[in-house]
Amino acid sequence: MGALDGTRVLLVIGGGIAAYKALDLIRRLRERGASVRCVLTKGAQEFVTPLAAAALSGQRAHTDLFDRADEADIGHIRLARDADAVVVAPATANTLARMAGGHAPDLASTVLLATTLPILIAPAMNVRMWLHPATQRNLALLTGDGVAVVGPNVGRMAEAETGPGRMAEPDEIADAVEALLARGAPLASRPDRGTLLAGRHLLVTSGPTHEPIDPVRYLANRSSGKQGHAIAAAAAAAGARVTLISGPVTLADPPGVTVMRIETAREMLAAVEAALPADIAVFAAAVADWRPATFGDEKIKKGPEGPPPLALTENPDILATIAHRQQGRPPLVVGFAAETTDVIAHARAKIARKGCDLIVANDVSAATGVMGGDRNAVHLIGRDGSLESWPTLAKDEVARRLVARLAELAPSP
Ligand code: CTP
Repeated sequence: MGALDGTRVLLVIGGGIAAYKALDLIRRLRERGASVRCVLTKGAQEFVTPLAAAALSGQRAHTDLFDRADEADIGHIRLARDADAVVVAPATANTLARMAGGHAPDLASTVLLATTLPILIAPAMNVRMWLHPATQRNLALLTGDGVAVVGPNVGRMAEAETGPGRMAEPDEIADAVEALLARGAPLASRPDRGTLLAGRHLLVTSGPTHEPIDPVRYLANRSSGKQGHAIAAAAAAAGARVTLISGPVTLADPPGVTVMRIETAREMLAAVEAALPADIAVFAAAVADWRPATFGDEKIKKGPEGPPPLALTENPDILATIAHRQQGRPPLVVGFAAETTDVIAHARAKIARKGCDLIVANDVSAATGVMGGDRNAVHLIGRDGSLESWPTLAKDEVARRLVARLAELAPSP
């Protein structure tokens, strides 16, 4: 007995080295009780054969839009209809672009355009392609349409580059299929979705940044990303379209959220700018204020001259940059103030300096355990000087309450 007993999955296999993992995915889905029917793009067939997909799925694999046998037999409209969910793995940058643009030049994209079933995509591509604003824009469109996303994971890639772009593992994808089917309907039309932030685009930064010293060392801080990720999750649960721009964290992606992964403050600023416009922007990340002034391609070696001098230069202030924008400033800009002394006084000064509308201030001295912990005690400080102090709460609860406040404060869309 499997968690997917009696369900039918249409698996669209895209081109890319990760296509071989899609074969393993067929096995994993079948082990959980699903029946799997495969569509392979032309690119996919460079890496795996329709025969292999057919052998593993126990059903004929489909490849051509104008396959006369197919059209007489099942046809693309039936392929798009006769399943419970569609999974695209690997989803290449090109597949995402086609889906987002509604282009349908081949069987896979035609099926994706014709289907009304829940769709899950497992992106896999080169790091630069993943981080490209065009790909992130396409992804934001797709999640806005209710498409669910799993991964990509951060790790070493085929081209020996490291970063986000590796397809999620087959078991992670199978878990995401279970979650998708448990929801029963595409995200955008889920009846149980909150409506507090429906129709709004909320952008959240979360986690630390890593500032490289050389290829193997970096400057960082103790931020876990828990509070920022919890806000993203709570906003998605409240019906918002959410873009989460995250530094390196070990947390799972919140469901129904578009996640852009970055490492440095400068990458975070670029990702935030690419993700605009937004109705609400929440800057929960612990951005490194400084980065090493120089970065060499070679590892710094120990030498007789002693430790190297570490000259630092200032990073862009992402919150202040966005809050002071003349054009395209999100109507509601929220900052965090992580302080270890005089929390409220420092936060008040920060709200003026940064130009945001609201500051969520917290005490992050080591004794509070807030950095990396699961609980948080925050004060909400408004531009008008208003102050509201909440008791110590779980970070999830802080997130839910904050989302409710944002819904009250944000101008109507
Ligand atoms: N922030 C940012 N970009 C930076 C530094 C901070 O976007 N380069 C944002 C944080 O996400 C947070 C707010 O600014 O919302 C305040 O961050 P904090 O570290 O408390 O303030 P700093 O500006 O770094 O001031 P200081 O370190 O002097 O307290």
